[in-house]
Amino acid sequence: MTYLLALDQGTSSSRSIVFDSQGHAVAQAQLELPQIYSRPGCVEHDPREIWRTQLTTAREALARAGLSASEVRALGITNQRETTVLWNRTTGEPVHNAIVWQDRRAEPACAQLREQGHAAAIQEKTGLLVDAYFSGTKLQWLLDNVPGARQAAERGELAFGTVDTWLIWQLTGGRRHVTDVSNASRTMLFNVHTNQWDDDLLGLMNIPRALMPEVLPSSSDFGRTDADILGGAIAIGGVAGDQQSALFGQACFSAGMAKNTYGTGCFMLMHTGRNFQTSHNGLLTTSAAQPHATPEYALEGSVFVGGAVVQWLRDGLSAIENSGQVQQLAESVPDSGGVMMVPAFTGLGAPYWKPDARGTITGITRGTTLAHIARAALESIAYQSAALLTAMSRDASEAGGRSVDELRVDGGACVNDLLMQFQADLLGVPVVRPECVETTALGAAYLAGLSSGIYRGTDEISQLWRAERRFHPTMGRERAEALMQQWEHAVRQATPVDE
Ligand code: G3P
Repeated sequence: MTYLLALDQGTSSSRSIVFDSQGHAVAQAQLELPQIYSRPGCVEHDPREIWRTQLTTAREALARAGLSASEVRALGITNQRETTVLWNRTTGEPVHNAIVWQDRRAEPACAQLREQGHAAAIQEKTGLLVDAYFSGTKLQWLLDNVPGARQAAERGELAFGTVDTWLIWQLTGGRRHVTDVSNASRTMLFNVHTNQWDDDLLGLMNIPRALMPEVLPSSSDFGRTDADILGGAIAIGGVAGDQQSALFGQACFSAGMAKNTYGTGCFMLMHTGRNFQTSHNGLLTTSAAQPHATPEYALEGSVFVGGAVVQWLRDGLSAIENSGQVQQLAESVPDSGGVMMVPAFTGLGAPYWKPDARGTITGITRGTTLAHIARAALESIAYQSAALLTAMSRDASEAGGRSVDELRVDGGACVNDLLMQFQADLLGVPVVRPECVETTALGAAYLAGLSSGIYRGTDEISQLWRAERRFHPTMGRERAEALMQQWEHAVRQATPVDE
């Protein structure tokens, strides 16, 4: 048997999974990552903790699998995207905590870019809407606010990286300063047509080019781990941002194939093949994980509060004791009894982009019970995802492309059958859950398996993808459309009057 090791560095935890070459998870380990809320709107991680937790889980997963480094053919990395690390090339010491993707401190710099009229050119080159979410203005903030950082950067003493780059630097003992196209495409500094850092964008955000890592296709030679780190050198053969990695792990390799990951938030991506498609419906264009040098793209929409709404029922309302209870409670009523919940706790992301929207519950009557609220909370995840798919289908049909004919699902909440059935009912297309729902880590393992010659091509990987269950729509389209209209009405009520 041949084995691959995937490192999955996420926002809330670091995980490592050993896969066999058939895509079965053999062993895994996970550690929580402490969150640092330094001031309102700011979220940071300690880069040393990112590395420590990731390394510990990698060692643990190998030990649980009973494998030594020499028995692992290659290693793949997938990671929380956009999170920005800046460190000293000589000492390897970070100059500041990592600024996490959720952090809003760079909003003034983004407002300035928008006011100066750069938004259209930035979207044309990067596929992104100007927002503090992306790495470029976070890096600009670090250079402007950490004493001495700009001068050191100009002298070539510092290195910038997203989390993949930081991990590779550590794994290779500082010998490689590299990233992949899918991570680079989330920086707002990368031209996704040419697959190069863009000098105009670097200039706009006042970022010295000497900081930037080399960009490689997602399945490439990213270096070898230092022998003493994992008990032997392992080739680092695959790297992709977590959402693009999940798209790859779901074997969505051609235009019109889409996946939705149900985590704390929800991330829906649709492959658009080799076509860079600008969204006219509130989505982002992003580089897909690219096994070769040829650019490939995806449309992406993100929902900020997905599974987190269940956490709120548990921790905010004390309505349930554990997340598992939500399905039981929701199933105890036939429907939400007309209750709609819009969990806009931190505003609404795609396709609405309403930063000032706030959580709202509508349709409450004297007969409303906690069970209706629980059901509405669960259903809100499906409504938000359905709005994303509608936006994607509009974009696809405007561009004359293929529309989505099934949605592949993964992430923690996809085990909830009630939610998946309701999702299929709203969408009017089958929702398909694969046997392996660890698709984020699996994507990185597959990318590493491609560059190390385990797989000859993506066709072979497609053969390994197997459905565990297909949820077919059972609701009439008229009823589904009426529900979506009620949802859109509730969204309007969640939005301040002056918008
Ligand atoms: O864009 C942010 C995304 O990559 C974070 O994913 O799963 O670590 O929350 P996750």
